This record gives sequence, C-alpha cells and structure tokens, in this order.
Amino acid sequence: MIRSRIISTGSFLPEKVLTNHDLEKMVDTSDEWIIERTGIKERRIASENQAASDLAHEASKVALERAALKAKDIDLIIAATVTGDMPFPSTACILQDKLGSKKAAAFDINAACSGFLYGLYIADGFIRSGMHKRILVVGTEVLSKITDWNDRTTCVLFGDGAGAAIVEPTKENRGIISMSINSDGNMWDLLHMPGGGSRLPASRESVDKGLHYIKMKGNETFKFAVRTLEDLVVKILEENKLKSSQLSLLIPHQANLRIIQATADRLGLPMDKVLVNIDRYGNTSAASIPIAFDEAVTTGKIKDGDYILLEAFGGGLTWASALIKW
Ligand code: ACO
Repeated sequence: MIRSRIISTGSFLPEKVLTNHDLEKMVDTSDEWIIERTGIKERRIASENQAASDLAHEASKVALERAALKAKDIDLIIAATVTGDMPFPSTACILQDKLGSKKAAAFDINAACSGFLYGLYIADGFIRSGMHKRILVVGTEVLSKITDWNDRTTCVLFGDGAGAAIVEPTKENRGIISMSINSDGNMWDLLHMPGGGSRLPASRESVDKGLHYIKMKGNETFKFAVRTLEDLVVKILEENKLKSSQLSLLIPHQANLRIIQATADRLGLPMDKVLVNIDRYGNTSAASIPIAFDEAVTTGKIKDGDYILLEAFGGGLTWASALIKW
C-alpha cells in the first residue's frame, strides 16, 4: 500500500516584531485584553517589499535543504494563501520561478486558515494515485497588508509568515493515515475581504470605504469554530480507532488560545501535548499549521512512530484535519 509522507519541513518568519504594547499606541486596546481573549503577545510583520512568494521562497529553501533535494526534484508546487503576490498569476508560479523548479506544475488554493491542510489533502491524493512523486506544499501569508490597522477587533489577531512541507510516497506503515476537508459556504460572510474581486473591483470608492481589508464577525466565528473543531477531532480519532491517549501531539491552527484549549479539553489532552506558538506569531492563516509543524520537528517534539493530529478552521467557512504517523 502506498501512503504519502512528509519528509521535510521549513518555515520563515519576518524579522519585525509587533508587540501588544506597540498596538496599544495604535488602537484602543490593551496587552491584558489581547492576552486574555486570544493568547497573543506579539506577531511578525513583513517589510514593505516582502510579498507572499518571498516568505514562501525562504521556507521552501529550508525544507529542500533539509531533505537534501534540489528544486528540480519537485514535480508539483501547491501554495495555500489568501494574500498572494497579485490576483494572477498564482503565487505558486512565482515561487516556482524563484526556486527554479522547472519540471513542476504549480497552482494556488484558497481555503483561508485551512489552506495548508487542503493543500496536503490534494498532495496526499496525487501521491497515492501515482500522479506525482514529490510535492511541495506551502502555506504563506502577509495578512498585515490586508489588515485595517484602525480596527481593533481584527488588527490584534494576525501575523505574517510561511511554512513548507515536502511530500513523497512511502511503502512503510507511516505517513498520512487519514484526512478530511469540509466547507460551509453558507457562512462565507463571517470572514471575508469584500473588495478587489469581480464583485467589487478596486476603485477609489472601494479603497475609501476600506473594502480591501479583512472583515470578521469574530464572536460568531469563535462559537462555530469551537463546536466544529471539537466534533472534527473526535471523529477522525474514532474513524481510525485511536484513543486520544495514543496521540503524541496536537498541532492546531493558531487562531485563538481559547479555541485551542477547548479542543484539547474535548480530547482530554494535557496542554503539554499541544503545540502552541500563537503567543509569538498570532494567527498566520494558511501558514499557521506548517510553521507549528516545523517547530514541532525542529524542537524534537515528535519522534518516529508518533501519532500527530492536525486541525484547522477558517474563512469559507472551511475546516480540515489530518492524522499522521511520523
Ligand atoms: N481590545 C479591546 N477591546 C476589544 C478589542 C480589542 N482589540 N476587540 C474587541 N474588543 C471589545 C469589543 O468591542 C467588545 O466590546 P463591547 O462588549 O463593549 O461591545 C468586547 O471587546 C467583546 O468583543 P467580542 O468580539 O465579543 O470578543 P470575543 O471574546 O469574541 O473575542 C475574538 C474576539 C478574539 C476576535 C474572538 O471572537 C475570536 O478569536 N474569534 C475567532 C477568530 C477566528 O478563529 N477566525 C478564523 C480564522 S481567521 C482566517 O481564516 C483568516
């Protein structure tokens, strides 16, 4: 039986740190409110000339180097982002050019914060079917560029970064054991950016009205996320006849520490079995899971044979999970 397996990871965070205290000087908020309601202490912000493909390029170079591979060894690039360099061409194509992966096909996917897991799901299917041999999946976001820095209800939440994973086939009893992806388009307006598409093309008026910024109904999104993620993690374990005590690590999307804690509680998992880095990076949307995954690998939090559960939730609405045997 052929499975797909992540053989290498990499991540990149821009240098500039924006702390909660910096935000106190920009909007009517406080360090205490942000930490208590979200768990975030600081986040990284890209420089003026850094776009999604630049961050993705840095993360991908690390993943390739760790796997001792060259860019030409990759035959497909999937980039998950809602903050691509430009509406078209895809950020994956621009990344392909930067890397020099001449043999690869490249495309983007948009599933907001669930984007990396959607990309991994596609990669898993393509590898198991034999259609591709070595796939680079990247989550990359520069949310700071679509954030309304005058809106305290959203600007405290987001950060920039990128994470990458290289996926290959394996005949061993390890790798991606099971995945699910899900959507409910009925609730698209809970989280969206209204301007810049064919519905409301960019105009002087659309810019003046702030339509090119993230709009979020935070509280409704929060409640839906908690309910949905609790069911999602229980379901994937049941389907694979695993007990939560057999899990070595939960790697959740880093949107809100309270959402993460609720999911861990539902599983009865102690927080030392949960990867949390939201305090340092905030919500980096599609980049959040691969950055956290890379941190788990590089800090030795996962060992061969460990079961790891990944879960994400985001705009669309979309949600997704993955069970991996490392
Ligand atoms: N500082 C101080 N006060 C604030 C701030 C702030 N930064 N933001 C909001 N408040 C105030 C509100 O105005 C409100 O005041 P009021 O009661 O006088 O009206 C009060 O705090 C409570 O606001 P709520 O929105 O009800 O606060 P909540 O506890 O829901 O926390 C938050 C807000 C953190 C946004 C939370 O709802 C959340 O995390 N939602 C989910 C976000 C998410 O998961 N998004 C999906 C992924 S993102 C993606 O896909 C790109």
